[in-house]
Amino acid sequence: YDTKVSPSHTSDKTSFGYFSARDRWPVILTGAIDDVHRATSKCTDPGKAEEGKKITQGLATLKYELQHNRELTPLPDDESPDIAGYNAELKQRGNPHWFDVSWLFSECYLYRRIATLFALSTHWKSHDVFSLQKMSTFRSSRPAVLELAARYNQLTSQLSSPDSSLATASAEEREQAEQALFTEMCTICLWGNATDLSLLTNLSYADIQALQGSESRKANEKNILVNDLPAAFAVLKAAQRSAPKDQERRVDIVLDNAGFELFVDFVLAGYLLQSGLATQIVLHPKSIPWFVSDVVPRDFSDLLGVLVNAKGFYETPSEEEEADGMTPKGLEEREERELRGLFDNWSGLYAEGKIILRPNGFWTEGGSYWRMPKTAPDLFTDLQSSELVIYKGDLNYRKLTCDAMWDPATPFTTAIGPLGPKSGVRTLALRTCKADVAVGLPEGTDERIREERGETGDVGRKWAWSGKYAVVSFCDGKA
Ligand code: F6P
Ligand code: MG
Repeated sequence: YDTKVSPSHTSDKTSFGYFSARDRWPVILTGAIDDVHRATSKCTDPGKAEEGKKITQGLATLKYELQHNRELTPLPDDESPDIAGYNAELKQRGNPHWFDVSWLFSECYLYRRIATLFALSTHWKSHDVFSLQKMSTFRSSRPAVLELAARYNQLTSQLSSPDSSLATASAEEREQAEQALFTEMCTICLWGNATDLSLLTNLSYADIQALQGSESRKANEKNILVNDLPAAFAVLKAAQRSAPKDQERRVDIVLDNAGFELFVDFVLAGYLLQSGLATQIVLHPKSIPWFVSDVVPRDFSDLLGVLVNAKGFYETPSEEEEADGMTPKGLEEREERELRGLFDNWSGLYAEGKIILRPNGFWTEGGSYWRMPKTAPDLFTDLQSSELVIYKGDLNYRKLTCDAMWDPATPFTTAIGPLGPKSGVRTLALRTCKADVAVGLPEGTDERIREERGETGDVGRKWAWSGKYAVVSFCDGKA
């Protein structure tokens, strides 16, 4: 069901796929080994410790096979329905080797294989090897979190106050203000994706903080190469105007990363609900630890837990701080109140059923989203009843476009195949670029950036690897 355009491949030495397989995945696997090793050394239950050692060995074997360009071996059956699909695809692809395989499939296989090691254990089933990393990076996002908490709470009281400037403005002025806020919230949400953990192998904490504040959003505006936000706003506004009062108007967010990005997704979700642009938000997390930092349901409750216990969270020294004898900076009362305000607001929306979490195994299968109508028809039908489906991040974009080597001027609506025009689904991708695939670019953009950066010749699309550039692409499949 995939496109015939050739996929990004780990055998292409100019691709980020090759670089990922050679340099990034071994680092990620080493991190996972360290995590299990540490957790094992703290085990008091000998049975659990024994299993911990076995999992560490399993991870080390995987790393060895990758670094020695062995075959991708069939996944052991952990009784999940997707295993058969992965193994059938391995066979159909002729039992490929690590450095001669589609990048997208092999990267999904990597995380799915890690998950089998835990699923097949007795004591480690719910262990998330990336959980600590997700939390500690969230902690380092503190300046941006506090800035946004204040902004969100201010907006909430503005939207609910009968004598705010919004409430007394003319209909036209109100719509303009709403569009400006929608753009601001989506842009926050977009750049929140620049800081995922699978790229942390190249980014420092200082880089992360520099990427997250409002100043940096302004500076980066020119790096948004395609911006279809006006069209996305128009469809939500039209639905709000024309739908009967009690009719549900749903927006779906196919989540990407936990921590700061999930935090900003909540900011957007809360804004859409409070402004009346949507009446329900459905969030789609992953069912297994995925691409290091992707949201699993537990990250959702962990985030709310941090907000309600912010003082404890920020003022307890991390292991490194403890080792260096450092005391973390205390949280001011005002800051604690802002975060508590967010908790009350978001957990209230969740309790009222206005924000819903809906996992589905499809999101962690090995293929592209071109397959959805055929292989996950129920999910596809469900998304058709949404006003707008927002896909966050790079991996979702790669899956939407089949991670193929499209000409970058190919329209986004073509590159998403069966999810395109007349699919009955409206798609909005908010993606900072961290892979080679790029579509929907104005003619000449790719060449111009290559030229500007001195990346001409056969060096691959390097500019698109670092999260510095972004695309916001929309397709109205209901038009
Ligand atoms: O490009 C590096 C990478 O790990 C890709 O493999 C993957 O598509 C992406 O980052 C994950 O980023 P995101 O969290 O934005 O999907
Ligand atoms: Mg991710």
